[in-house]
Amino acid sequence: MATRKLLLLPGDGIGPESMAEVRKLIDMMNADFGAGFETEEGLVGGIAYDTHGQSISDADMDKAMAADAVLFGAVGGPKWDGVPYEVRPEAGLLRLRKEMELFANLRPAICYPALAASSSLKKEVVEGLDILILRELTGGVYFGEPKEIIDLGNGQKRGIDTQVYDTFEIERIAGVAFELARTRSNKVCSMEKRNVMKSGVLWNEVVTATHKAKYSDVELTHMLADAGGMQLVRWPKQFDVIVTDNLFGDMLSDVAAMLTGSLGMLPSASLGAPDPKTGSRKALYEPVHGSAPDIAGQGIANPIAMIASFAMCLRYSFNMVEEADRLDQAIAAVLDDGLRTRDLMSEGMKEVGTVEIGDAIVAKYKALAA
Ligand code: IPM
Ligand code: MG
Repeated sequence: MATRKLLLLPGDGIGPESMAEVRKLIDMMNADFGAGFETEEGLVGGIAYDTHGQSISDADMDKAMAADAVLFGAVGGPKWDGVPYEVRPEAGLLRLRKEMELFANLRPAICYPALAASSSLKKEVVEGLDILILRELTGGVYFGEPKEIIDLGNGQKRGIDTQVYDTFEIERIAGVAFELARTRSNKVCSMEKRNVMKSGVLWNEVVTATHKAKYSDVELTHMLADAGGMQLVRWPKQFDVIVTDNLFGDMLSDVAAMLTGSLGMLPSASLGAPDPKTGSRKALYEPVHGSAPDIAGQGIANPIAMIASFAMCLRYSFNMVEEADRLDQAIAAVLDDGLRTRDLMSEGMKEVGTVEIGDAIVAKYKALAA
């Protein structure tokens, strides 16, 4: 049995608590099912800054490059508000994305039946929701140069960020969108702001051309990103795959998260291009929620987005489809049983902590495998 090398980067805030629940799953899968996971741990974010003055060390970066997959918790918190911009906690995550070339960020928003009532939207709007936001992750305004604050010398300063996309970057993310759509409901909606942004004009052109050249069997529509945000809360079930740039994808995926009941529910996978020789891709899996410093350390965080991110890891990095399906079913079953972390609480449900819901998911997984 081949070993499967995982690097765990729990990070800050609720990251370590959520990761501890995934570690239980890994241990169980190794002990009971011979899964052959080998884990290493590293530091990222504020804790890395406190330890070595960098938001991720070169040594941990090397480990990430060598791993089959990276599991990432969360970074940041008010404790590090004052640290220099270059070494702020988020810089560690951005470095991982950039150096591992993880250009494709999959953010599925699925509304579990048991949670349809927990969304801030009406039940009929979210019930049965299953959409996928595909966010471009290594380009756009996050990384464009110049990126600076300059002194204009007249008592004024100027803050500059640069939104920039090249053809190949749009082509490759569009290709992933169409490929994914073919495995789902065969629909892609591309979102940009071509009415005010040149990069939006190019985005629209390249997505259209890519579609015409190779994917005309998939249904393609275009929407301005602001209208897309509105449609996401009006009638989200009209979408299948949404493909959009780095910044719009950041915002739209937070909106989509709330459709599912809680930000604590949304997992994500960040993937690189397949290696031409081995076919394997670099990959990092992380919950969409942040470090939630206000509830960290209290044992009340919802670990489901982290656990569902591990399910995505099983699916996309190790082709363990059966195991991934089983883990997703275990999450759904535990919710059906009425267990809820505080963020998901509603009347008649049983409030439990991070460890309890994690234990319940492990037990359910084993029961489903028996
Ligand atoms: C996300 C987060 C990150 C982002 C932060 C932590 C840098 O909001 O993954 O959605 O903006 O990409
Ligand atoms: Mg975000």
